[in-house]
Amino acid sequence: MADVVRMGVVGAGSIAVRGILPHLALSDVQDRVQLQAVCDPVPGRAEAAAERFGIVHAFSSIDDLLDKGEVDAVSIASPIGLHYEQGKQALDAGKHIHFNKTMTTTVDEADELIDTARRKGLKIVASPGEMLRPHNQRIKELIQEGALGTLAWAACGAAFGNYHEKEAVRQGEDVLSNIDPSWYYRKPGGGPLYDMTVYALHGLTGVLGAAKRVTAMSGVRVPEREFRGQMVPCDADDNTFMVLDFGKSLYAFVYGATAGRVTEGFAGSYFGTKGSIVGVKLNDKPFDYPGRELAESDRSGRQWLLPHVVGEHRDIGEQHVYEDVMQLVDWVREDKASIVTAEHARHVIDIIESCYRASETGQTQDLRTTF
Ligand SMILES: NC(=O)c1ccc[n+]([C@@H]2O[C@H](COP(=O)([O-])OP(=O)(O)OC[C@H]3O[C@@H](n4cnc5c(N)ncnc54)[C@H](O)[C@@H]3O)[C@@H](O)[C@H]2O)c1
Repeated sequence: MADVVRMGVVGAGSIAVRGILPHLALSDVQDRVQLQAVCDPVPGRAEAAAERFGIVHAFSSIDDLLDKGEVDAVSIASPIGLHYEQGKQALDAGKHIHFNKTMTTTVDEADELIDTARRKGLKIVASPGEMLRPHNQRIKELIQEGALGTLAWAACGAAFGNYHEKEAVRQGEDVLSNIDPSWYYRKPGGGPLYDMTVYALHGLTGVLGAAKRVTAMSGVRVPEREFRGQMVPCDADDNTFMVLDFGKSLYAFVYGATAGRVTEGFAGSYFGTKGSIVGVKLNDKPFDYPGRELAESDRSGRQWLLPHVVGEHRDIGEQHVYEDVMQLVDWVREDKASIVTAEHARHVIDIIESCYRASETGQTQDLRTTF
């Protein structure tokens, strides 16, 4: 078993400040993981984060973090369009990686990272770990057991709304609370598919397996957004609707929309000849899954059922992100492989990349990956 994993956090924005750093600063994890370094290009932000969370080193670039930070692993928490380049740098420097969703924006990039990691004996955990959730595992079993008869179709998705403009860490005056969300609306890496629908797609493909083909329509519905009195130009598609083919005429409707929803949270809806699963209900009645009572007892709900979300971690937000970081920590320390794999993430990236290509060309696209 390896000693304590020395963790570097790349980007000290919303998810780092609200999720990763407060969880990893708690005393109960210090025997397994230590906050060793943080970097962020906004002047003073990494230093402020280091001071607040007791991190050893603060840098303004990932180059310095990898060179001088004395880290074994990194959690990449920068804008999605930077993840591939930063992941490549980290692997070249011999570091294990946790990617905050989404790992890359193309399959070619994901292939390269997966191959490099394999060659160098490094581990990648690529969020979101939706199949760590007991209710998703139960949905998979129910469908396999025939509870829905012949499964006919499924639906899942998410809407952008104005969640990111409104996050509390973006409304303040100091460097840890005035974090600009503009990248969420710009290419590459912006838009609701990479940031939100990605949860739904991990759940859907975790339950049904790899999809085979995709067709889609997609575009920009809101061309500018207001953030703190400034207009932000938006060129990333914010209104995307796709149909996935899982083979043998089993289809799924998936959306990443500007606003509105027809499914529950990020959960899928599944419809068969003998019944339906919508959210955590089978034929309109809650179904059982391990830990259901605990999940229903708290407002963070099902996040408490994630294996590392215990004790004080239940009082801190973004518990699923902490869980995924700990999946990497366990994997590095105990060689205990996580189910939150880069291969699963690559398949979801394939769906998103191919969906945009389908929309641009008007042609249904074959998917080329499985997991
Ligand atoms: N905000 C959320 O609710 C949330 C939840 C879960 C996961 N995530 C994921 O976490 C990642 C980050 O999202 P966020 O909301 O924290 O974004 P954010 O915009 O709040 O923060 C990103 C940070 O990265 C910094 N940054 C920019 N360029 C950088 C570079 N070259 N090197 C290092 N840092 C750089 C920015 O200065 C900023 O501080 C995304 O992949 C997102 O999908 C976000």
